[in-house]
Amino acid sequence: MTDKATITLTINGKDYAIAVEPRRTLADAIREDCGQTGTHIGCEHGVCGACTVIVDDAPVRSCLMFAVQAEGKNIRTVEGLANGDTLHPMQQAFMDNHGLQCGFCTPGFLMLAVGVLEREPNISDEDLIDVLSSNLCRCTGYQNIIKSVRAAAQEMRK
Ligand code: FES
Ligand code: FES
Repeated sequence: MTDKATITLTINGKDYAIAVEPRRTLADAIREDCGQTGTHIGCEHGVCGACTVIVDDAPVRSCLMFAVQAEGKNIRTVEGLANGDTLHPMQQAFMDNHGLQCGFCTPGFLMLAVGVLEREPNISDEDLIDVLSSNLCRCTGYQNIIKSVRAAAQEMRK
């Protein structure tokens, strides 16, 4: 059995001291070792985007990163988006524009869209569609997801 490494993950500003095998993915560590199950796992090999979280201000597929690589970095998950009872503009826009159906892919889309818009608030519609196409929604609800992200982009620019 591989020796476990003792690391501290900082998720949404809170530190989690955990012991993980070096091969453990960040997605598994976030969900199973830190109990933050809002991050979903779909394909486990970088295709679906359900596991997307923001690491040091960049959207990252947490199934493609090892937990040990994330030590000392600022990890943000869907649990950290709302401010108390006030939803993040992206969450509100998904609600208002029917951007979620079964909701399985939603945390990944939220974190991808927030990460991209924080870096590029004036992203073109064309580029936005291109970015969002990297995540999969098995309900094929892309139109409303795109509508939601566009609405949130306007709100986040204010
Ligand atoms: S679970 Fe990570 S990309 Fe699908
Ligand atoms: S809302 Fe069902 S997979 Fe996207």
